[in-house]
Amino acid sequence: MDKDFITEVKSNVNIVDVIGEVVSLTKAGRNFLGLCPFHGEKTPSFNVVEDKQFFHCFGCGKSGDVFKFIQDYRDVSFLDSVAIVAEKAGIPLPTVNVEFSRQKVSPHQSLYDIHKAAADFYHTVLMTTKLGERARSYLYDRGLDDDVIKHFHLGLSPNEGDYLYKALSAQFDEQTLLNSALFNPSENQKIYDAFQNRIMFPLTDDSGRIIAFSGRIWQTQDMSSQEAKYKNSRASLIFNKSYELYHLSQAKASIRKHHEVYIMEGFMDVIAAYRAGIENTVASMGTALTSEHVQHLSHHTQKAVLVYDGDKAGQAATAKALDVLKPFVVEIVRLPDQMDPDEFIQKNSTEELANFLTKQRLSPVEFLLYYLKPDNLENLQAQIRFVEQMAPIIAQTSSITAQNTYIHKLAELLPDFDFGQVEASVDQVRVAQRTHHQQPIQQESYRRRVTEMPFLRQPSPLQRAENQLFNRMVHHGFVLNDYRQRDDFQFVSQELQTLYQLLCQQGEITAVELSQLDEAVQNAWYLAMEENLPEDVSMDELYDIERTRQRELLKQDSRQIAQRIREQSNIGNDIAAVDELNRLIAQKRNME
Ligand code: GTP
Ligand code: MN
Repeated sequence: MDKDFITEVKSNVNIVDVIGEVVSLTKAGRNFLGLCPFHGEKTPSFNVVEDKQFFHCFGCGKSGDVFKFIQDYRDVSFLDSVAIVAEKAGIPLPTVNVEFSRQKVSPHQSLYDIHKAAADFYHTVLMTTKLGERARSYLYDRGLDDDVIKHFHLGLSPNEGDYLYKALSAQFDEQTLLNSALFNPSENQKIYDAFQNRIMFPLTDDSGRIIAFSGRIWQTQDMSSQEAKYKNSRASLIFNKSYELYHLSQAKASIRKHHEVYIMEGFMDVIAAYRAGIENTVASMGTALTSEHVQHLSHHTQKAVLVYDGDKAGQAATAKALDVLKPFVVEIVRLPDQMDPDEFIQKNSTEELANFLTKQRLSPVEFLLYYLKPDNLENLQAQIRFVEQMAPIIAQTSSITAQNTYIHKLAELLPDFDFGQVEASVDQVRVAQRTHHQQPIQQESYRRRVTEMPFLRQPSPLQRAENQLFNRMVHHGFVLNDYRQRDDFQFVSQELQTLYQLLCQQGEITAVELSQLDEAVQNAWYLAMEENLPEDVSMDELYDIERTRQRELLKQDSRQIAQRIREQSNIGNDIAAVDELNRLIAQKRNME
């Protein structure tokens, strides 16, 4: 793709329309404002600037043009983002692109192909055969209809030894057949299908390619046998069950829109949620949630809602998941009467499930209050242990109002404690944590980052001056030329310095080049471009920028000197302290 093509694509779309497809935007002055799709927030700080055709979030600092948005939102490369935007603009891709996409084919392409072929085969068996008809009525009994079956591309593996193998072996080479994990060789050299007579749930990766299956038994004779209820594909070159999550590729868009993901235990639970109109839902493949899963999810959101089964095992799994989900904001939905979401929807209705999932949320502390509560609460020792378990958990809550509510709730549960006594234990932990603050700080750091970021992200006067200067250099060659000749000049901001050097070498930086630089450098570029400046550059303006820069640099210097004075006098080195002090005085004169 050449530069002109990229420019043409960009000038044929409006970033407000493109972003507006997935983020609801309202007009605010000259810009459009919405909830940032890249970090969880309740008050909008995500700006789309129409006349400059770029976006910027004052919350998380992300910014860029329409391509950058698509890249980050869809998790695709720069060139893919150009292709996506081109399609929106109705501009056909240049033919060279074919070459490019051929290169991009994965070395595992044949494994993806065989999984696609197998999924289509299983689906056809479910939809067209006699056995399929019976399997479908099992699914209908469980409340699914054909639309749901199609949406999840459910299938049926035939009740025969090597049906799939016969169907696919002519189309794929031996290596692919073996590596696919869809077949098992036996002692007599014969090859058998790995799945037989099971309802098949295809599992996809982030790009929606099928990478594995899980199969459920459904006929009564199988249910009474020793067979595992669900069976997963074994691990393969394209499937790692500690990383992959069921339904994630389909849930992605909805996760971004709602800024949260529901994590459930079973595939049928994800399907139940979908029937209730909730699509931002995933399930692990019958294993506990791992830190790899959490890492994977963090590409898409920072908030999780745990909806595990209401039984003992489900609640224990919730407590464990809270541990691995430390970097996330977490809420918990506790379903009544030991039900899972699928059973809840059978007993109640789709509307009631939707209602319950969205409205009945507990904080982790509320959940732990219930979960850790001992059975023998009349026993004083049990009460004391319970308070000691809960106090550090409550003390970590950042809001004092919330802390008081939890202290109150805990005291209510305990016959021998009142509010003041529980409060005293929490306070004690709080003080201890403040003196040697290790663990609790770490746990809170994520939340703090999210809530305080808007303030941290306000650019300082120095950053403003440098942004403005760089902006002028990009748009006005004479400014760049002027600075180029000053050997002693350099930006304080490392990112801007990188961009400046590139600009000096080439005279311009193209969108493609920019997309290949570090994320931080890209952000610096967009922030600088965002400066709202008059069309023409006046000498006064440049003079002001330079003065601000000098003043701020001197201020930084004097802060460092003042710091050294404190250090020297703290260790009793008065001579050095006086030296530094003289330097500081000279410095102040200089500033005046
Ligand atoms: P249904 O009975 O179909 O409603 O499934 P469920 O989701 O209620 O089943 P359960 O709560 O027992 O299991 C939750 C998840 O654990 C399932 O979706 C599977 O991913 C997994 N699982 C359940 N049983 C087995 C098993 O026998 N083997 C394996 N590998 N995974 C299982
Ligand atoms: Mn179930």
